[in-house]
Amino acid sequence: MLHHHIPLARWIRVALLLVALLASPGWAADDPTVLITGANRGIGLELARQYAERDWFVIATARRPDAADDLKAIQAEHPRLEIVQLDVTDHARIDALAAQWQDRPIDILINNAGISGGHENAKFGQMNYDTYYQVHAVNVIGPTKMAEALLPSIAQSDQKKIINITSGQGSIADTWGCCTFYRSSKASLNMVSRNLSLELKRQGITVGLISPGFVRTNFTPGLDHPAMISPEQSASMVIAVIDDYDLEKTGTFMAHDGRELPW
Ligand SMILES: NC(=O)c1ccc[n+]([C@@H]2O[C@H](COP(=O)([O-])OP(=O)(O)OC[C@H]3O[C@@H](n4cnc5c(N)ncnc54)[C@H](OP(=O)(O)O)[C@@H]3O)[C@@H](O)[C@H]2O)c1
Repeated sequence: MLHHHIPLARWIRVALLLVALLASPGWAADDPTVLITGANRGIGLELARQYAERDWFVIATARRPDAADDLKAIQAEHPRLEIVQLDVTDHARIDALAAQWQDRPIDILINNAGISGGHENAKFGQMNYDTYYQVHAVNVIGPTKMAEALLPSIAQSDQKKIINITSGQGSIADTWGCCTFYRSSKASLNMVSRNLSLELKRQGITVGLISPGFVRTNFTPGLDHPAMISPEQSASMVIAVIDDYDLEKTGTFMAHDGRELPW
């Protein structure tokens, strides 16, 4: 019989979804799904919270779900938030998740996970090349692999958006030196995204690049500057920019406040 060909895990997921739907009459099964990488802290955590508050299905990834207490607290309030283990440098894991979700629409993929590699490691004359590789593995190759592997899920969704969290520091036009590992990784992510936007436009897929602002997170531990904004502010502005992204705007480099940034 037909149902024998459908994996048990998928039946269980459908059953759990139905139970959840019955328990909460306000929910609709076709509400959008967003996947956010690096969602256990910082900007990713706030993106996860705010999409959960919109009653979206949220796939929040974390390298160590056991330690993701803040995400678990959001999940307690919003059971449609799912916590999934993922290190974005683990391509086998990305492929396994993509296979598991092959029939599941993902409206928005937000590649948020990112690292700086540290200033000392990036000083010319004493560069740490292992760190250099790692920064590119996380900031460039990870998002590229995520987009490639999850393309079938994105393509079958309503919104069809790939959003890469970049940085104003990835702007070649605006650079003033320093931070070569990080800046070159975000400049590379910008190029990958711009290319992808052209390749995917005919499939109706929007590719967005958003700099989240200067945000008070552990990305710059101990740093406090009057120009910094909170992760909550950043996430709500980033979400507004994502809402506004469409095929007309695909491949543009945007700031959190809706300004277009120079390449
Ligand atoms: N904060 C700013 O001012 C600022 C400005 C411009 C752009 N950005 C960008 O915004 C994004 C988020 O930054 P943030 O400020 O929220 O930084 P953060 O507080 O340091 O958080 C970084 C997140 O990335 C995750 N991560 C690191 N390596 C990973 C890997 N290999 N696989 C999966 N996840 C990984 C971290 O997980 P763990 O907890 O496991 O380490 C954490 O969840 C980054 O792409 C960053 O470049 C930030």
